[in-house]
Amino acid sequence: MARFAVLIAAVVLAFIVAAPVPEVAAKKYTVGENKFWNPNINYTIWAQGKHFYLGDWLYFVFDRNQHNILEVNKTDYANCIADHPIRNWTRGAGRDIVTLNETKHYYLLDGKGGCYGGMKLAVKVEKLPPPPKSAPAKSIGSVSMVTGLAQFIVPVALFSVSTVWDAILRMC
Ligand SMILES: *[C@@H]1O[C@H](CO)[C@@H](O)[C@H](O)[C@H]1NC(C)=O
Ligand SMILES: *[C@@H]1O[C@H](CO)[C@@H](O)[C@H](O)[C@H]1NC(C)=O
Ligand SMILES: *[C@@H]1O[C@H](CO)[C@@H](O)[C@H](O)[C@H]1NC(C)=O
Ligand SMILES: *[C@@H]1O[C@H](CO)[C@@H](O)[C@H](O)[C@H]1NC(C)=O
Repeated sequence: MARFAVLIAAVVLAFIVAAPVPEVAAKKYTVGENKFWNPNINYTIWAQGKHFYLGDWLYFVFDRNQHNILEVNKTDYANCIADHPIRNWTRGAGRDIVTLNETKHYYLLDGKGGCYGGMKLAVKVEKLPPPPKSAPAKSIGSVSMVTGLAQFIVPVALFSVSTVWDAILRMC
């Protein structure tokens, strides 16, 4: 019984120690890069190959007198209809942020000109960020803290497991 409890404790501890540090850095995308939110840019091509994850942002920069940024449903997106937007992301300064805080498709378009010059963008927001390939500089602090803690806990845990084990064996 005690042997079993010790084993369980060791396994649980191993899981806690081995749990990956999640990569939480949200990414900010400037839509259209240095061409921003303007006519005659194919935003489908702009979005190609990009992965949008929960918590990322889209940053729209545009002439506030000519354009805006509205979220519509799939049908209205396909037909460039801006009459009943789901959400108006326009604040008025020509600098707007769309926070991708829901795992869904976001259908965005320029409502002033009804997708004027192809100004429409659909992005699919996914839940899981990719596993970090290498620790970015700014999280080294926390990573090394966790690693340091693990380096301390693991030998202590192994030591106590073997001590208890020895005690159990001696009792048998
Ligand atoms: C989008 O909204 C329009 C107008 O409210 C509606 O007719 C259409 O069925 C909706 N499409 C979807 C996919 O929800
Ligand atoms: C969106 O909101 C902005 C800022 O409040 C407002 O000026 C604009 O008229 C709104 N546009 C639509 C289509 O609702
Ligand atoms: C996502 O952000 C928008 C705008 O800040 C907010 O209105 C909405 O409630 C948020 N959704 C969730 C699921 O948090
Ligand atoms: C943008 O590019 C996509 C993929 O190449 C294409 O299917 C689409 O028709 C283009 N859109 C416009 C408005 O040219």
